Amino acid sequence: PQGIHTASFKGIHAALNLPALPSHPSADPARHPLDAFLLAAAEQVAAALDIDFDKAWQGTQLHSKGADIIVTVPRFRLPGKPADVAQKVVDAFKPNAYLESATNEKGFVWITCHTPTLTALTLGTIHELSRGRSSGSWAGEDLAESSGLYGTNASGAGKQMIVEFSSPNIAKPFHAGHLRSTIIGAFIANLYEANGWKVERWNYLGDWGKQFGLLAVGWEKYGDEALLKEDAVKHLYDVYVHINKTAEAEPEIHDAARAYFKAMEDDDEHALGLWKKFRDLSIEKYKETYARLNVHFDVYSGESQVSKQNIATALEHIRASDYVEKAENGALLIDLSKYKLEKAVIERKDGTPLYITRDIGEAKQRWDRFVEQRGDGLGFDKMIYVVASQQDLHLAQFFKVLELIGYEWAQPAAQRLLHINFGMVLGMSTRKGTAVFLEHILDEAKENMHNVMRSNEDKYAQVENPELTADVLGMTAVKVQDMGAKRINNYQFDWSRMLSFEGDTGPYMQYNHVRLCSVERRVADLDGVALPAVLDPSSLRLELLAEPKAREVIMLLAAWPETVRANLKDLQPSTIVHFCFRLCHALSSAWEILIVRKQEKDLALARLFLFRCSKDVLSAAMRLLTIQPLQRM
Ligand code: ARG
Repeated sequence: PQGIHTASFKGIHAALNLPALPSHPSADPARHPLDAFLLAAAEQVAAALDIDFDKAWQGTQLHSKGADIIVTVPRFRLPGKPADVAQKVVDAFKPNAYLESATNEKGFVWITCHTPTLTALTLGTIHELSRGRSSGSWAGEDLAESSGLYGTNASGAGKQMIVEFSSPNIAKPFHAGHLRSTIIGAFIANLYEANGWKVERWNYLGDWGKQFGLLAVGWEKYGDEALLKEDAVKHLYDVYVHINKTAEAEPEIHDAARAYFKAMEDDDEHALGLWKKFRDLSIEKYKETYARLNVHFDVYSGESQVSKQNIATALEHIRASDYVEKAENGALLIDLSKYKLEKAVIERKDGTPLYITRDIGEAKQRWDRFVEQRGDGLGFDKMIYVVASQQDLHLAQFFKVLELIGYEWAQPAAQRLLHINFGMVLGMSTRKGTAVFLEHILDEAKENMHNVMRSNEDKYAQVENPELTADVLGMTAVKVQDMGAKRINNYQFDWSRMLSFEGDTGPYMQYNHVRLCSVERRVADLDGVALPAVLDPSSLRLELLAEPKAREVIMLLAAWPETVRANLKDLQPSTIVHFCFRLCHALSSAWEILIVRKQEKDLALARLFLFRCSKDVLSAAMRLLTIQPLQRM
């Protein structure tokens, strides 16, 4: 048969000589190998019970214990006892290339996939979609190449969205909340992309307000050009802290600050020039940190970028709403107590807008921008705000106001706006003491990893770029700790646990990937047995992968695309982290059973191929989590 590596799904099917399958709109067997088995099962169920294929499909699901597929017979609401109906399916069952056996389990049918087909179709699909089409570029020998398309799908084709995340405040600390937003937000953007959406990554900086007047006054007193160029984030913070201290004793500084900010609001060129310099240099510095975290943004927006016109329009709409009232102090309020969302100040007595007012103006501005960009009258299909749960009330108020002032796109039924929240990090500080700067945390993670690497001289000598490798290991440690549990949980920042190579940690995850990379090198060097980089899987004797351990690994690999698709429902990165560790655990016990060294050649090659496919999947899962998989460490 023709080589599978150039063939489409039809090609794989043809190469494997598999019978044709029914189709269903929600099945995608070209990308999801398990869908082929579900289709084959539903086909038999429909025939045995004489029901619609769609109905049979709805009752046929993947199962993890005892069988591969479960048919929930009671769902069909057919006359007779479920156990009798299930028996009908079992009696009519015909083993075929996809399915091996069916049993009646108290009104449920358990079906087992035919292992040789499961193996060939899963590994063939992984190979086909992961290889030879890599979109990323090589980043040196230490980092693995991009792993392609297996696990992605087209369910979001044509849809466009914004994920807003990170959003630190200039001249204030980049704190743990911003770090979590950065990590989780970048993951969510990747996840939607893997599901076929077009995603814009937005950073909404805290870059406007009276504090910039204060900062400017501070700059005049304590500013240092050289320090600013060196590290704007740190220097501006220092200046800001200093001037705040000084202002405690000299309150007239606040008048100067107000005057300065007023000049900014009035488009005074000098005032804006200095502010812009602070903003630009801060962004430059942020970008360095984001690069370490393997994160990038398409748009650096911010509170400063909401146009006066859009704020005025938002205020006009709010004033026209039934929920508006004047507070005793003359401020403008919107009363959301009917919705258990308290009252929110929308405009100060002096007419200046607030945080929430800007958010309202900004959302509308983004919608309009998308309408213009798309040209088909549609704005974004979704906009996600990744913000700590401390701001739950703010986000709920802000969404509610957009709804109440009547924006069609902000109605809950449209399901466009979504707040993704998360809990707190407790005790995030360097080992020496309290850290203000994220960089110190990241540096410490890197240093620790570098020390561990240095303790194995032989391996260390083989690493091409130890600095980069140590940094990637450190970032992996931080990210895995952060994404290991449900988002909403608080967690304790724990240096020794996070940096350990034992237990479900980032370094352990990287270790597993590196081991998958090195097995091919070792077997080639020591036994002279090597898989070609581009190969035709039908030339391998995959039926030799007959051990239950091999099947367990293959099942996990086959489940990857469904894991990505289903993860859209709850957007929990922990689901993907757990998937990685299930695979790592299955692999670590597989090494002793699926031995590659000194085996008969066909067996060695089949096992090497299984490990290569495992590497493709583990690396895809790590990338989805924004982690850069390492080849060596
Ligand atoms: N800069 C804000 C803060 O640090 C977070 C911004 C969240 N996004 C938003 N659209 N309000 O608290």
